[in-house]
Amino acid sequence: MTKSRSTFITPDGYAVIRASMLVPDRALGVEVSVLINGRAVKWALEGDILDRSRLDRIMSFKIRKVLIRADDEPAFRRYVERAFDDTLSNESSSAQQKIQATSSATDLAVQDILNTPEDKDTYNRSQAYFERLGALVASLPGGLEEILARPYAAESHDHLSHSLRVAALSVALASRLGLVSKEKDRTALVTASYLHDAALETAGVARAQLHSQGAVRDRVAEWKTHPMEGARLFQGKDFVNSRVLDLIAQHEEIPNGDGFPQGLTKAKMDPLAIVLSLVNRFEDYFERHEGKTAPALDDFIKSELGRYDLDYLTHLKAIVLQARPLEPRTKV
Ligand SMILES: [Fe+2]
Ligand SMILES: [Fe+2]
Repeated sequence: MTKSRSTFITPDGYAVIRASMLVPDRALGVEVSVLINGRAVKWALEGDILDRSRLDRIMSFKIRKVLIRADDEPAFRRYVERAFDDTLSNESSSAQQKIQATSSATDLAVQDILNTPEDKDTYNRSQAYFERLGALVASLPGGLEEILARPYAAESHDHLSHSLRVAALSVALASRLGLVSKEKDRTALVTASYLHDAALETAGVARAQLHSQGAVRDRVAEWKTHPMEGARLFQGKDFVNSRVLDLIAQHEEIPNGDGFPQGLTKAKMDPLAIVLSLVNRFEDYFERHEGKTAPALDDFIKSELGRYDLDYLTHLKAIVLQARPLEPRTKV
């Protein structure tokens, strides 16, 4: 049982959780409220079964966070963990159900780690979920497709949905390049994918700020330092694989030396950091184009050609096209 809290508590005794942690088609473990005009309004009762359309509806109202009573937090945790255990152990669960239950658990796991980066039990428990996500992406037919098929509306641009897509694409690319034959390496890659922008998250820098019109990332005070600050959060912890630190520290480096903070070139970079860096950049293009494959790939290849090895770019393009085929052309 964890000592850590995964949530922010409001003055009137509610814990703020992410709507993405709610699991569709499963009896809700706690009562859930939403914030309307500054007041908590009951939205779903304990035992309600939320179908996907009801969950999509609150997302369509741009409600990414919901409220549970602070005392219900342990019950909420059990609900997420049981959904994960039941779904993954049930052979008839669909790819969609498995990915949903796992991503609810990894969302909770990331929040736990960011709240208590020094806590060994929290880290190990969270890492077990990351490991499972890596295994699903590597072996579950339709797993990557399911993750990339999630809504890309501008309001859903946040660190957690970005991290999930980065983790999934990183595993797919690294597997194809033969870089993660050992489970330990794959888990390090998934963990670093989830934590690569940890310093931005803990500093409260929203992804929308990085994408906002006309914004120059360099003007965000934390931008140039976030890879090193992120690695520092986990430095000196014997329970953290040192490769995770290297991957976080190098995720904004680019093999031709154009990246930061050190301007490392390919020979000095961990090959998995090259994967993470490339996928992280691709995910930015994907977000900017709201999940539209053709313009995202066009922009991405145009901008990154010559900065990364051609075979990395080609493999990533093939993976994306397979998981998310080009949109039919619309007539003008
Ligand atoms: Fe970053
Ligand atoms: Fe990122």
